[in-house]
Amino acid sequence: MKHLLSTADLSLDQAIALLDLSDEMALVNQRETRKLPTLRNKTVVNLFFEDSTRTRISFEVAAKRLSADLINFSAKGSSVSKGESLKDTVQTVAASGVDAFVVRHSASGAPYNLAHNGWIDTPIVNAGDGTHEHPTQALLDAMTMRERLHGIGATKGKDLNGVKVAIVGDIAHSRVARSNVQLLNTLGAEVHFIAPPTLMPKAFEATKHFNLDDALHQVKPDVVMMLRVQLERMNASFFPSESEYRREWGLTNDRFKQLSGKTLIMHPGPMNRGLEICAEAADSEQSAIVQQVANGVNVRMAVLYSLITGEKAVNE
Ligand code: NCD
Repeated sequence: MKHLLSTADLSLDQAIALLDLSDEMALVNQRETRKLPTLRNKTVVNLFFEDSTRTRISFEVAAKRLSADLINFSAKGSSVSKGESLKDTVQTVAASGVDAFVVRHSASGAPYNLAHNGWIDTPIVNAGDGTHEHPTQALLDAMTMRERLHGIGATKGKDLNGVKVAIVGDIAHSRVARSNVQLLNTLGAEVHFIAPPTLMPKAFEATKHFNLDDALHQVKPDVVMMLRVQLERMNASFFPSESEYRREWGLTNDRFKQLSGKTLIMHPGPMNRGLEICAEAADSEQSAIVQQVANGVNVRMAVLYSLITGEKAVNE
């Protein structure tokens, strides 16, 4: 496999190999010398046409830990604001000699265009395209679940068979949910979508629930993944008010206290604290939110390594 565009492209073996490699990268990141020489002389370009904090920084750290040269391109402040097209922009950057592009774009499918229409011949990692996919986020979520549910050091070769994952909130606009449901199904997890009808997508292999309290009570999930309400992607009113959303769909302190003390709490960030998730849940011992960010670096090191060197996991 040359690119990482969608979690649907990963077989079970490929997914597990990538997660195992991410675990190895985690060990490297705990050493005093955290840098590997593997991608010396290689150039990675972060091509970000949409705002980002954790994903952009995480790819940057990952590339640098592997000794690659990293160029950060953000559309703001570039010739894109003079009207340069995606094709011209990417061909211009590629002409300087690039070994992998990490692409974030507000248009669903933009990384597919770059990968498949012959403009460039460079591996592409999809770092989030519109409401479509965000495969490295799903991988870092799966890595975190493996660590928390099987135990760090006991993850090698393991899937997520039978693990019950509830994904809650603005699923319709969420590329995180889309990439997650596909990867979680591949890994054998049982996925439940919990959302108001206006924010519930039609497709996807997940059991659907339209009442949060009933669903949490009935499913008793091992993992509750809260999603950000993506107001910037809403061109209409999808719920009456923020206070009603919080009351019906938020992980409030009351709801959090009713969950089993073992339930893992996740959120891809950035969080709307006090809207979809309360501070008590986000900052609790059960929360894996900071671990998710840390694992972002591990997973992205594994992905860049696999795509650029052609070794292990993605290229098997
Ligand atoms: C997500 C994204 O950008 O899709 N954030 C992230 O990458 N961690 C989720 C979001 O924006 O809500």
